[in-house]
Amino acid sequence: MTEYRLKETDSTNEYAKRIAKTQTEDALIIAEKQTAGKGRMGRTFHSENGGIYMSLLLHPEKNENPINITAMAAVAVARAIENTAERKAYIKWVNDIFVFGKKVCGILCEGAYGTEKNTFSYVVLGIGVNVFMPKGGFPEDIKDVAGALYETETAGVKERLIKEILCEFFAIYKNGREYMPEYKSRSNILGKEIKYTQNGKEFSGVAKDITDQGCLVIENESGKTIKNSGEIKIVNNFN
Ligand code: BTN
Repeated sequence: MTEYRLKETDSTNEYAKRIAKTQTEDALIIAEKQTAGKGRMGRTFHSENGGIYMSLLLHPEKNENPINITAMAAVAVARAIENTAERKAYIKWVNDIFVFGKKVCGILCEGAYGTEKNTFSYVVLGIGVNVFMPKGGFPEDIKDVAGALYETETAGVKERLIKEILCEFFAIYKNGREYMPEYKSRSNILGKEIKYTQNGKEFSGVAKDITDQGCLVIENESGKTIKNSGEIKIVNNFN
């Protein structure tokens, strides 16, 4: 797999999409810093030095849905954090990793659908981990939610974590290691009251289950709702 190591780029996901036009092989892009880090729902992802910003350009052989790849990556990152930082890692549906009640990692998976073969011609899996606390702390708008794995910078930590993430991810993605039961058992929302939006309206309910396809089952007085994407908020979450 070709590896691109960059001091700085706009976004490793965008970089991967640019090279996807000519590169048919899988690739790994890692940047020390992003100037336009992208989050889900059109948000930005804070990406100064001290974090891991990496994207995998993948060409799935079978008709793999990006939602599954996201879940595989979430389990892989959670395992990698535990193997290296020895901190218990939880998954907030769909794809955020929480440690000590703070978000330390976000995952953004983007796919390009090829109508010719009716499958994804490529998938870009972007992973951002807040490894070290930013020098001046996190910006005001995210400081209550965002956290880092370590207070101060130590040499070699980022590299070890990158290796572990890749090793755990490919054990699932290529070798078919089971991941859904673990995805569920690491959930920090099951059994909790949550808020979610549907067609622009806000609803609440209890997060009951996560299906084998990674969909969230929510229950409230109107019955069951199954969501395959979106964003939820935990009600009365004091973390
Ligand atoms: C989210 O939390 O909303 C998802 C954040 C994903 C961030 C990663 S960092 C590497 C890759 N490049 C990007 O621009 N975004 C993803």
